[in-house]
Amino acid sequence: MDGERIDALIAEASSRDAGFEEHALVVSALSIQVGRELQLTAGELELLEFAAAVHDVGKLSVAPSIIAKPGPLNDDEWTQMRRHPEAGADLLAPCAAPAEVLDVVRSHHEHWDGRGYPRGLKGDEIPLGARIIAAADAYCAMVEARPYRPPRRPAAARAELLAQAGSQFDAECARAAYRVTAAAG
Ligand SMILES: [Fe+2]
Repeated sequence: MDGERIDALIAEASSRDAGFEEHALVVSALSIQVGRELQLTAGELELLEFAAAVHDVGKLSVAPSIIAKPGPLNDDEWTQMRRHPEAGADLLAPCAAPAEVLDVVRSHHEHWDGRGYPRGLKGDEIPLGARIIAAADAYCAMVEARPYRPPRRPAAARAELLAQAGSQFDAECARAAYRVTAAAG
């Protein structure tokens, strides 16, 4: 695996979006906690940590004006934004990232009920790592401030995980993310 090239991708993404690395780190940390709660093996946890750190690297292929837009995206902007999971896998493939990681990156916006993107995968068709990152990413995004909204309180973000368990999120992953974030206070 070409670690230098991957680090360069992360550095480039961070230079374009100040919150990129911090968000990747918190998503990675929470994903690992959820993975442990679900009793993943050490090898699976290692792949999960790596996938979580690079899950959004495909945002490099999205126009910076869209990434930085301080408000909701219009339809054209969403179309571009929704390409970032595939774009991420395409950027990481030449770095010889493991196939499992490419698959997780490609699938991190799929929903358990099949209403996600890019492929509309359902349930177990979605790699477990992607189901874990989806729940962790959503929780972390909710408790972070955005230019157009304040952060949500952890209790409210946790409640949202449970509300979407079995529809947006794998219920087991959502409940595990609930437990580990509740235990953290
Ligand atoms: Fe993403």
